[in-house]
Amino acid sequence: MKNTISTFKDAKIKGEKITMLTAYDYTNAKLVDEAGINGILVGDSLGMVILGYENTLPVTIEDMIHHTKAVSRGTKNALIVGDMPFMSFHGDINTTVMNAGRLVKEGGAHCVKLEGGVDFCEEIRAITRASIPVMGHIGLTPQSFNAFGGFKIQGKNAEGAQKILDDARALEEAGAFAIVLECVPAKLAEKITKTVSIPTIGIGAGVGCDGQILVMQDMLGMYTDFTPKFVKKFEHLGEKSKEAYMEYIDEVKNEAFPEEKHSFAIDDEIIEKLV
Ligand code: KIV
Repeated sequence: MKNTISTFKDAKIKGEKITMLTAYDYTNAKLVDEAGINGILVGDSLGMVILGYENTLPVTIEDMIHHTKAVSRGTKNALIVGDMPFMSFHGDINTTVMNAGRLVKEGGAHCVKLEGGVDFCEEIRAITRASIPVMGHIGLTPQSFNAFGGFKIQGKNAEGAQKILDDARALEEAGAFAIVLECVPAKLAEKITKTVSIPTIGIGAGVGCDGQILVMQDMLGMYTDFTPKFVKKFEHLGEKSKEAYMEYIDEVKNEAFPEEKHSFAIDDEIIEKLV
């Protein structure tokens, strides 16, 4: 069944959990879509897990459009969320709306996500006015790691917790259809989830959110540079892939691969007549 922003809203009303994963390419988008995921985020985390940058700051709107297009081609039923990269929504409002529009028009996203709370309500209003639904993202917003002084859990003290709750209320008021809560205490996430009428999608925010999201390469055990505490590895594909690559190298060197069944035949006569 096709997932839309209404599917997300209805799930919250019915108390059904919303499932999301990131994906950045055709093959993996097709697999998660076929598995029955509700939403695919083409996250700017692709800067780290696909492009090998140290953080998400270098990711461009062109990078995001390129990968969103690939994901769109592999997706039939999931809601596709295109992530707005660092500096694509921080300038004038027209450029912000045009960048959101490019993710939808060129990338094939159904909606966009942007990092920030109270300070970005004007941008959210302008994008939603262009009929592009917006998912908010508060708590630990990785594009702001320089301002936070590192990748740290947010909302641990009274002031920080109040700020995140205020951000959530502001996002709802500005017209966001859902909110990602990243790396905030579980009880705070639960309080926010009960306070706002729009769905919350947690990552490192406990079980009390309306849904959950993880980075695909983290949950498959493929990205080994850094594993946050909140990640559960549902597979160890990194190790398994390496074993398969080593077996391949071995078989090629020993001429165990390719076998006859992997090769194409030709009449001996033709070969003999070749000059
Ligand atoms: O870019 C991303 O993958 C994200 C998720 C971690 C929510 O923003």
